[in-house]
Amino acid sequence: MGLGMVTIRDVAKEAGVSAATVSRVINNTSNVDLRKKEKVMQAIKKLGYKPNEVARSLSNKKSNNIGLLLPNITNPFFNQITEAVENTANECGYKIILCNTHDDPLREREYIDSLIFSQCDGFIVISDSAVLDEFTLKYDIPAVALDRYVSHDQRRSLKYPIVTTDNYAGGRLAASHLLECGCARMAHIGRPEGSKLAELRARGFGDVLKENGMDFFNVTCPFSYYEGLIAAERLFESYPNVDGIFAGNDMIAFAVITVAFNKGIRIPEQVQLIGFDDVLFSRLVTPALTTITQSIGLLGRNAAELLIKKINRENVANEVIVFPCQLVERNTTRNPQKNV
Ligand code: RIB
Repeated sequence: MGLGMVTIRDVAKEAGVSAATVSRVINNTSNVDLRKKEKVMQAIKKLGYKPNEVARSLSNKKSNNIGLLLPNITNPFFNQITEAVENTANECGYKIILCNTHDDPLREREYIDSLIFSQCDGFIVISDSAVLDEFTLKYDIPAVALDRYVSHDQRRSLKYPIVTTDNYAGGRLAASHLLECGCARMAHIGRPEGSKLAELRARGFGDVLKENGMDFFNVTCPFSYYEGLIAAERLFESYPNVDGIFAGNDMIAFAVITVAFNKGIRIPEQVQLIGFDDVLFSRLVTPALTTITQSIGLLGRNAAELLIKKINRENVANEVIVFPCQLVERNTTRNPQKNV
């Protein structure tokens, strides 16, 4: 390899693939086997390859596109947060490219790979994985973590802002309200493995009960209606005397309502229930769901505004921005103070 610029052929040789494959990876023109793509990426990084100046200047031209990665487009929380991101991006002259990752770190990496090498100026990521840490260490690209994030080492400065909800306070609110409503045999259904924010909600819930000399029965469940149906069956079978349930999100709470109805268990007369998110459907189900409100619109708007500032090289602090949450009382709890 001469003293000059690293060429596509050097990368191909290093990666053990053809120059055409390297080109496909860089230009994202067609699907490349993941292992080969990984080898090409490693070779590019190792050799410090820069696509030729012309291509690079083109790729450096702003596309005014933003990538938005989220775990599950069928969950109304993500519909609503996408709408807020998209509206804000459009107001600022940007389009969004939506990437549905199914909570799969491999898909997350594939999406970010292609977004970097092709058409995005930056991206917003909702993920429980460390994908954002990996990419912001490797590339100097504008990014924002929204809603979910992984624990970060306080000693190491953040490479991106985090916009999230005070999930711990939300769990505390749920426990305090169920206690106020006279519940004595409590359960939590949620806390999916590996979710930091779900862990915070459960911890806030448990801490308030502990402060009142109580414990709770926990059933682990992903943030999903269908898995919630299975977990709710397990909950009512294992803990038939439960009288107060905190669900880790509204979709699980909807599943609890379904299973309770099928078992002839009356909500709120026999069992009281609180959800988390306050998605649109929480008003529409019967009984309407008492839940903890996330400021979904503000979360999405704030994340989009921060990312666009970073794209425009404005001074943005890489810090954790926490939005408060509130309790909204509807018909799955019966607060004696309220009915006086
Ligand atoms: O309902 C989906 C859940 O996952 C929400 O609680 C939201 O916080 C997201 O992380």
